[in-house]
Amino acid sequence: MSYTKNAEEILISQEKLSERVRQLGAEITRDYKDKKLILVSILKGSVVFLADLMREIKLPLEIDFMCVSSYQNSTESSGKVSILKDLSRDIKGFDVLIVEDILDTGLTLSYLMPMLLDRNPESLKICTLLDKPSRRKVPVQADYAGFRIDDCFIVGYGLDYAEHYRNLNYIGIYKELK
Ligand code: IMP
Ligand code: MG
Repeated sequence: MSYTKNAEEILISQEKLSERVRQLGAEITRDYKDKKLILVSILKGSVVFLADLMREIKLPLEIDFMCVSSYQNSTESSGKVSILKDLSRDIKGFDVLIVEDILDTGLTLSYLMPMLLDRNPESLKICTLLDKPSRRKVPVQADYAGFRIDDCFIVGYGLDYAEHYRNLNYIGIYKELK
């Protein structure tokens, strides 16, 4: 089976992704000068974005990871969030920037934000590559957003359908073919 099967329609090309990631990196570089920046990547979907974004931020920084699950191999959120892996360090006094692949219903981040705020970071903000505002079930807003997209299921550049397609170098629209 071809690794691009069912995801051949390109929504955002490799070129557009790298251009936008460069811009986000420049904005963050400006905003976080002289701060104690930690990028917190939400596994697994945001790893590709994190890897590119961190190299466009020209500041001293740390990275850390959290793994949460809210999707069970389907295209619909289960509404339940569980922590599969927590941060490996204390974030008290740090300027934490959550790096997310996509802000969809908002359920994941509305669960994570209060939990991280409880640990007394100096600041807590959200950087998401993609934003699907029409799907929001709870009010969560990104401080940095790469692309605002319509309601369709997308894969690639870290995002999956049933754990596949994360390795596409573009964002594609997932379509079940008969
Ligand atoms: P939320 O909790 O509904 O905001 O969803 C957050 C998570 O759902 C994201 O981090 C993704 O892992 C997943 N997700 C939401 N929409 C899509 C999509 O279109 N394709 C792949 N994963 C998605
Ligand atoms: Mg995810």
